[in-house]
Amino acid sequence: MNQAKDNIYSIAQLGHAVLRLRAAEVENILADDCQQLINKMMLAVLEAGGVGIAAPQIHHSVRIFIMCSKPNARYPDAPLMAPTAIINPEILHYSDDKVKDWEGCLSVPSMRGLVPRYRQITVRYFDQQGKEQQKILTGFIARIFQHELDHLNGLTFIDQLESTKDLISEVEWYQQFATIQN
Ligand code: NI
Repeated sequence: MNQAKDNIYSIAQLGHAVLRLRAAEVENILADDCQQLINKMMLAVLEAGGVGIAAPQIHHSVRIFIMCSKPNARYPDAPLMAPTAIINPEILHYSDDKVKDWEGCLSVPSMRGLVPRYRQITVRYFDQQGKEQQKILTGFIARIFQHELDHLNGLTFIDQLESTKDLISEVEWYQQFATIQN
């Protein structure tokens, strides 16, 4: 039942203190330990079938997350996006409007929530090569970015729900909303 914490694929679960910390800025992106952590996170998110993972979820309290979007059973409508490392992220601008859609989280197993997120955001971050990037993100990709950035600030999607009535079991979600299975 309890996985060893040093297992690289062991994902911190809701209630673990690391998920409630403000993660630290990355000082040296090109350092070996940082590059190894990024590579480990890329494997972990692929293995778990997620569309994103944040470093605190594998017990490293630093400001790094991976976005890795493609349609799968958990997210049938996800667009394609190659695994991308996002380091020291910031949101520079938010759209006026928010959209509610379903989210799950590797740290909140067996649940789905209908979460309001800004429809469009302008973001700045550093990539795995240490280059600064600025982008406008929309829709599902903007949603992943906001979900993962929350993890770096000690928040999960449950903290963003408008109502506890917007939280349902994953079994119910599959029965009511899933359109493809793979
Ligand atoms: Ni999550």
